[in-house]
Amino acid sequence: MKVLVLGPGGREHAIIRAFLRDPEVTEVHSAPGNAGIAQDVPVHAIDANDPAQATALARELNADLVVIGPEAPLVAGVSDALREAGFDVFGPSAAAAQLEGSKAFAKQVMEEASVPTARAYVASNAAEAQAALDEFGAPYVVKDDGLAAGKGVVVTEDRTAALEHAQACFNAGGTVVIEEFLDGPEVSLFVISDGKNVLPLSPAQDFKRIFDNDEGPNTGGMGAYTPLPWLPEGFVQEVVEKVARPTVARMAERGTPFVGVLFCGLAVTSRGVRVIEFNARFGDPETQAVLARLRTPLGQLLRAAARGEISEGTELDWDPRTAVDVV
Ligand code: AMP
Ligand code: GLY
Repeated sequence: MKVLVLGPGGREHAIIRAFLRDPEVTEVHSAPGNAGIAQDVPVHAIDANDPAQATALARELNADLVVIGPEAPLVAGVSDALREAGFDVFGPSAAAAQLEGSKAFAKQVMEEASVPTARAYVASNAAEAQAALDEFGAPYVVKDDGLAAGKGVVVTEDRTAALEHAQACFNAGGTVVIEEFLDGPEVSLFVISDGKNVLPLSPAQDFKRIFDNDEGPNTGGMGAYTPLPWLPEGFVQEVVEKVARPTVARMAERGTPFVGVLFCGLAVTSRGVRVIEFNARFGDPETQAVLARLRTPLGQLLRAAARGEISEGTELDWDPRTAVDVV
């Protein structure tokens, strides 16, 4: 199997290393990659967010599988173009990637699928924002509706700061999602989906705020570890049944099946598990830790997902040791 991995980060490097351990993978290519990746496999200097360039490279390499790492190429329709050109692609269509691309869309799908999540309002002006903030009370949670690389969310006790963030989003022509605060630790669970069937990976925890003692603003993630020995027994199965399966089923019913990683960002609250957000891809930096422990060949797994051939009974093989990474 000849694989092409799109994306420039540590996550893509971790995916590539896992492919190199798969005996059925004969060749791995990266685009655009980075200096570290270039020490392991050939890198190709293209704009991986451009559907035409990505498709041309996949053709030139005669790739058997294309894996898309980050959200930007997904939302730009790179997987649609590759699929149309006849490639096996691991990564959702632009329409399905809206689960990550629009927080308002994700809330809508969760409501339709009865997935447990924070109560929320979409606000498009200051009056609506104020009403929503007052309904939920402090701590306030205000989210830019569009893609913001983990930096569009403000969680604060300060009502003025919450309103200022909402106003900045309105000024940029956007809307915000304002929601109730979820207490309790966060968990990242990656669920492989072939559009119909789902297979969860080992849960991880990632730490979002920069600076010691969580004193800085949110980031995309400052570090991660896995597994999580403190999770209640049956947690992963509960998330599969209450979150992943209904969401994947709903996306298929809508005519936009989700093929790729459904990244469930969860809060383990005093009232049970709640979805904080969905992403449409592997998480960074969680993937570096999670894939370090995966012994099941990744190429075969992702190719099966790309072809709609995941079988839910598959037992994945994990190194029992803990993996940690720091950004
Ligand atoms: P998101 O982009 O939606 O994942 O939000 C980024 C981060 O903001 C999350 O990882 C949480 O740490 C925090 N956050 C988001 N929504 C909530 C919420 N409803 N309650 C508490 N914290 C939240
Ligand atoms: N580490 C969180 C994310 O990838 O969005």
